[in-house]
Amino acid sequence: AQTVARAGDGGVSVGGIEVARLAEEFGTPAYFLDEEDFRARCAAWRDAFGPDADVFYAGKAFLSRAVVRWLDEEGLNLDVCSGGELATALSAGMPAERIAFHGNNKTEEEISRAVQVGVGRIVLDSFQEIARVAHIAEGLGKRQRVQIRVTVGVEAHTHEFIATAHEDQKFGIALADGQAAEAVRRALKLDGIELIGIHSHIGSQIFDMAGFEVAARRVVGLLAEVRDEHGIELPEIDLGGGLGIAYTSDDDPREPHEIAKALNEIVGRECEAASLRTPRISVEPGRAIVGPTAFTLYTVGTVKPLEGLRTYVSVDGGMSDNIRTALYDAEYTVALVSRRSDAAPMLVRVVGKHCESGDIVVKDAFLPADVAAGDLIAVPATGAYCRSMASNYNHALRPPVVAVRDGAARVIVRRETEEDLLRLDVG
Ligand code: LLP
Repeated sequence: AQTVARAGDGGVSVGGIEVARLAEEFGTPAYFLDEEDFRARCAAWRDAFGPDADVFYAGKAFLSRAVVRWLDEEGLNLDVCSGGELATALSAGMPAERIAFHGNNKTEEEISRAVQVGVGRIVLDSFQEIARVAHIAEGLGKRQRVQIRVTVGVEAHTHEFIATAHEDQKFGIALADGQAAEAVRRALKLDGIELIGIHSHIGSQIFDMAGFEVAARRVVGLLAEVRDEHGIELPEIDLGGGLGIAYTSDDDPREPHEIAKALNEIVGRECEAASLRTPRISVEPGRAIVGPTAFTLYTVGTVKPLEGLRTYVSVDGGMSDNIRTALYDAEYTVALVSRRSDAAPMLVRVVGKHCESGDIVVKDAFLPADVAAGDLIAVPATGAYCRSMASNYNHALRPPVVAVRDGAARVIVRRETEEDLLRLDVG
């Protein structure tokens, strides 16, 4: 939301450029990302956690080579969860030892490549994977640093599809019934892996610190169990990502320094009580870094008032560039940005151009009653999980990502063309 700043007269500008000019130069729909804001958020996380902790940006939120270079320059590490994300990271020069590799079903090819290039850690998600990674690493004559991902049994208060620490879901190994302790036992026996710590990620778009605190407490509990059983103190814990951002004015996000303070306090206290050395903490924010830094710019096409219901405002994109509204019932806001209007606010639903009625970008919003074809409207806070989850549904051409900084704009991911689409169609 911060990235769309009101201009004195007429339209709105971002990073010192009028949006009308951006639309003219780059077309719509398009994502515009404020590079300065992105870097500032990286720095805020880095500084909040300090030199004795590590911040891994979760690349799934949005990843491109420019983003990798910014992360590198700002001193962040990177969490990848597929061979494609790993390839992007490496091709932009991220040092492999600053990469963490995630996923509940990494392929043998992905594991081999990660081990060969020397990623800093692989996060193991199942008993099978403990054996598989150890076997592959041993075959390559390497000893791979790993963490074990556990589920701590916390019900995170977020959408079911993005909550990950309760037990009935696909990620991690349960702390319950001694399963995680058994995973540690097995990992410690294998030569191909070096167990450096325990990982927990409780979910996404979370505002309440209580879930993180319970997770931290339980993870430290496991460290104590491991010390008691094996006489070793695992040196690291990772508490995942998941910090919520403001999509609408109802959301009240925590700041990185609040998270850092709460996590350091709880981990410190629990370790002291268990006479453990405090482990090195890492976190993996994705949305909280990139989400607020971008907005999507659309051009209004048709405006259809439905008597007694609402007005449908159709734009030139839709669920192919933002699936979150359809998938999670996510809430967004929208603003008219190409001109000033004194018309009264009118209840609208902003919809896309796809062939299905669930193709909604903003479910309930107000726009000036004179909104019309050709107007530019912006949906803020679309930096995370929008371009990265974009699809070619109805053979839509995925929009570009344009980075704006100091009055200059440059494309960091270009718009797809029909040629791009047809290149894959070899039948
Ligand atoms: N670490 C792990 C192990 C994760 O699985 C995730 C997100 C993150 C970090 C980053 O979470 P964040 O800080 O961005 O909340 N597509 C959904 C979100 C799925 C998140 C999956 N994992 C959405 O659009 O809301």
